[in-house]
Amino acid sequence: MIRVGVIGVGTVGTSVVKILEENSDIIEARAGSKIIVKTGAVRSLEKARGLSIPLTTDPYDIVNDPEIDIVVELMGGAEAPYAVVKQALQNGKAVVTANKAMLAYHRYELQDFAGDLPFEFEASVAGGIPIINALRDGLSANHIESIVGIMNGTCNYMLSKMMHEGVAFDAILKEAQALGYAEADPTFDIGGFDAAHKLLILASIAYGIDAKPEDILIEGIEAVTQDDIYFAKEFGYALKLLAIAKRDGDEVELRVHAALIDANEMIAKIDGVMNGISVVGDKVGETLYYGPGAGGDATASAVIANIIDIARSGRKSRPMLGFDRPLEHGLRLKAKEAIRSKYYLRLKVVDEPGVLAQISKIFGEHTISIAAMLQNSIDSRYANLLFSTHTAHERDIQKVLLELEGLHFVAAKPVMIRIV
Ligand code: HSE
Repeated sequence: MIRVGVIGVGTVGTSVVKILEENSDIIEARAGSKIIVKTGAVRSLEKARGLSIPLTTDPYDIVNDPEIDIVVELMGGAEAPYAVVKQALQNGKAVVTANKAMLAYHRYELQDFAGDLPFEFEASVAGGIPIINALRDGLSANHIESIVGIMNGTCNYMLSKMMHEGVAFDAILKEAQALGYAEADPTFDIGGFDAAHKLLILASIAYGIDAKPEDILIEGIEAVTQDDIYFAKEFGYALKLLAIAKRDGDEVELRVHAALIDANEMIAKIDGVMNGISVVGDKVGETLYYGPGAGGDATASAVIANIIDIARSGRKSRPMLGFDRPLEHGLRLKAKEAIRSKYYLRLKVVDEPGVLAQISKIFGEHTISIAAMLQNSIDSRYANLLFSTHTAHERDIQKVLLELEGLHFVAAKPVMIRIV
């Protein structure tokens, strides 16, 4: 019999407890042992009424219980769970976590701490999609060329609604929160941080890159309006929050931002709260993974898969982050300013003679070539100018944005969205 302690019995933890009971027949047959939840740790016993397992409010009751074999960490946050999980490893427990924020900062230290103990985290990226399993095991013969993913269901839900139903930004955020997909602090979702945490985890497995959130380009979807949707529709794009990892020689670029992508791409068709990830390997070519990236049962499905795997194998059978030893010629993180992309810009300007000429002069001075342009009147005084560019350097577009913002006839901070 394998005894599990679940720290954090909220939406996902409750589903873990429930599914271990409901599917106990198939789980026991696959794992080769009975798996039971011995204890759950919750913040408040008041709120936890109705759960059928013994409860404590102290996570260390679980971590220090000699009868518990596997600690499942579902607390949220980064530092408090890091301390709890380290103690669990020091006490010789296997660990399963869904905690992307903790892994975004501490995955390499945790790999060292774990040593030969199993440490699994399938649910930390894209909820129910077995993307870690796919990258770490299924694609391990490949150099990974790129990962392009929709990894935040909240943003995808919001952008899909804006695109297909014309809803305004603020109204849909509330809807997404009500559906239970958003993080406790939704700025993690709409600011791109949640997707960035997931991208960093995948980048370690794909490339052996140890980067922290502050090292990479992270932008959210806060500035997106119906004007941008209008441009996207006119030019055959979908608008998505993308997490991108791309190999370029001995460098890897990592970035999260709103992106216009060709509406015919498979990933452009992934709508609503669903997640989708395209992984290109040098030998396998493109592979695509689609499924629910959040929600209690879907995330619990990944957590329990890890528990079953540990029950089957006992000790660790593979390196936590996918590399048994570092690559001889390791890859470096590309500097943010060196990224190259096509860009879309939205400028609110005073609608008067000479404005367009002065704007296009600034683009030209920074050797950025305009690909398309649309003008939308706002009222008798203001208009929105919508531009797309040919491929340019991030450092040049940033200079253009700064200069444009300083022009007296530019009436609001310019908005830029990358075209992928
Ligand atoms: N807030 C996340 C999302 C949940 O919206 O996708 C899963 O990490």
